[in-house]
Amino acid sequence: MKPPLIVANWKMHGGQADCARLARQIARGLRQNSAEIEVVLAPPFTALNAVHRALRGSALKLAAQNCHWESQGAYTGEVSSMMVREQGCRYVIVGHSERRHVFFETDAMIGRKLAPIMAQGMGVILCVGETLDQRQSNQTASVVRRQLQLALKGLAKADIANVEIAYEPVWAIGTGQNATPKQVSQVHGKIRSWLVQRVGAAGKGTRILYGGSVKPENVASLVAVDEINGLLVGGASLKSESFLPIVRAFSQK
Ligand code: 13P
Repeated sequence: MKPPLIVANWKMHGGQADCARLARQIARGLRQNSAEIEVVLAPPFTALNAVHRALRGSALKLAAQNCHWESQGAYTGEVSSMMVREQGCRYVIVGHSERRHVFFETDAMIGRKLAPIMAQGMGVILCVGETLDQRQSNQTASVVRRQLQLALKGLAKADIANVEIAYEPVWAIGTGQNATPKQVSQVHGKIRSWLVQRVGAAGKGTRILYGGSVKPENVASLVAVDEINGLLVGGASLKSESFLPIVRAFSQK
């Protein structure tokens, strides 16, 4: 298994100067961190370059929050995997629930993004997760399975090494209500067995992250869950005072 992965998703927050400042604070705060842990920052597109420069000399990595599946073309308002790689990105988040539910990205659209991202030498952080209605009607397992199956449809088995999965229940995102350790453990367990079914033993090494209202106050209970290999943090990653304790808690794992 690779080291635990903690990703800060800053969503649509911060201009270049704010993002660069926050990146420097986080990098400074983690300098003494000797434990092996991978920390990735995902600022808005317009701050990628500034954050890339701010992270020079640190072990922190850069991610984009999304990209288009084509490398160029008549796609007004879109940004390609080649363009974000050029800004210094090592990962791209795809299929975030806000992309699915606010911008109506389908499983098929999400699936098309994987190969181009990997062709640029970057890793994919694929988000999956059910809505509250789906959970309440016992569809969590089938929804998450369908999202995974469709996104990974064209994936060559060996390429699973470049994919991380983030389980983010939609009802836990930005609500203050995180999934319980038991709920996370159940879904992560299922994701693991589907991955192994799909790609064989290589699926045992895929990191499965949890995201949804992760805070310094609840991180200890999540760290204790064996099936969690990292975190995708939204709101609490916008301040170093709340993000650093989350990373440190995970460093004890
Ligand atoms: P919050 O941590 O703000 O709930 O956001 C989670 C998320 O969507 C990270 O991608």
